Amino acid sequence: MNMKKTAEQLLDIDRQYFMHPSTHAHDHETGALQGRIITKASGIRITDHRNETFIDGFAGLYCVNIGYGRTEVAEAMYEQAKRLAYYHTYVGHSTDVIAELSGRIIGWAPEGMKKVYYGMSGSDANETQVKLVWYYNNVLGRKNKKKIISRMGGYHGSSIASGSLTGLDAYHNNFDLPIDRIKHTVRPHWYREAPDGMDEAAFVQYCAKKLEEMILAEGPDTVAAFIGEPVLGTGGIVPPPKGYWQAIQDVLNKYDILLIADEVVCGFGRLGSKMGSQMYGIKPDLITIAKGLTSAYAPLSGVIVGERVWDVISRGSQEQGAMGHGWTYSGHPVCAAAAVANLNILESENLMANAAEVGKYMLDQLHATFDGHPMVGEVRGVGMLAALEFMAKPKERVAFDAALKVGPQVAAACMSRHLIARAMPGYDVLGFAPPLVTTRADMDEIVRITKDAVDEVAGQVM
Ligand SMILES: Cc1ncc(COP(=O)(O)O)c(C=O)c1O
Repeated sequence: MNMKKTAEQLLDIDRQYFMHPSTHAHDHETGALQGRIITKASGIRITDHRNETFIDGFAGLYCVNIGYGRTEVAEAMYEQAKRLAYYHTYVGHSTDVIAELSGRIIGWAPEGMKKVYYGMSGSDANETQVKLVWYYNNVLGRKNKKKIISRMGGYHGSSIASGSLTGLDAYHNNFDLPIDRIKHTVRPHWYREAPDGMDEAAFVQYCAKKLEEMILAEGPDTVAAFIGEPVLGTGGIVPPPKGYWQAIQDVLNKYDILLIADEVVCGFGRLGSKMGSQMYGIKPDLITIAKGLTSAYAPLSGVIVGERVWDVISRGSQEQGAMGHGWTYSGHPVCAAAAVANLNILESENLMANAAEVGKYMLDQLHATFDGHPMVGEVRGVGMLAALEFMAKPKERVAFDAALKVGPQVAAACMSRHLIARAMPGYDVLGFAPPLVTTRADMDEIVRITKDAVDEVAGQVM
């Protein structure tokens, strides 16, 4: 078989028939955007149809935490599919594997969490979050307490409610989003958002004050919940300023507002802690999980429900009967088998500790390489998350002209050197979120390639 021709034929079929997510429709169809067929992967490396191999410095979409090609997970799914490929979980039905998984997840969650509800994606899990918040307040007889406050730059998915929670214009434009009842407060990024001369501690108070002002303007009796990622992800990979979560929780507690921690990226070891909640002292009422739960070997997400909300859900069922919410694939056993095998690997190989240790090494190396670089405004990160923010004048915080597409250019320069790093949307930010199995030697390679790529683009734009 002529492999090259086959790949070209496949790309042609793909262009004709596959509507890709988050893709320029016209450029893809015409071939102006070159497609790429990924054929195989192992560890932290993926291979494409031209047999070229790349370091995946973003773990797919920050999800393949245990790395590619782990046969233990494939085998667990195979065995489960042979024994029991599916049964539903309505009306109290269960499977052994989903029951076991639920207990394991509560073990990874912060204190006070009670139950796990399952979906297939982070977006649908956040859709469930919105419904649970509304249900909770209806059962409590607080018919007007329904608004949810998110953050500008937050990412929570791209369905109707979760896309509304997302605070990025590209996810709203032309879709008539956000829906009403969803508001966005300050993006918690000190370097970018702080008024001139404001130090980090004052910026934290500023974020808390802006949140409180919004709650008061909307009316505390109308605000039901606040949602945030422990570390802002797609909005730029921004660790919170010191003390941020405590200040935010003080405001929420004052007005009886639920806290949803979106742990889709931060959960299951990526920050070097079990979840972001434990790292930052967050005491959520509800938690969203997906991605690292199965390391993307199978689509599975969840909502972890805390005691306060669970008690009201239980009361609601006593007063009004079973909740009218559920999906055919809630708690799918093959996905659950993947999750259990994934957690076994995370725990037995202590990948959380590796994320802390090698993640710190990555950040140290990035600082050593890029602090003071004429094009780099900020180097930041925590655990296996890191970012470089590019600025025309770093000290004065003057951004590049967006038309120069500096972030995408650096990502392309990395790609030409066989490293995948992600140009984050919105600003000129290059993001890293490698698999948790990445080693120090791999990090040296990632940082070396990135340096060459940044210098190449700096030579063109500075
Ligand atoms: C924090 C966060 N929440 C939710 C989502 C949505 O997940 P999904 O793409 O599985 O719908 C994402 C996706 O990147 C995310 O980063």
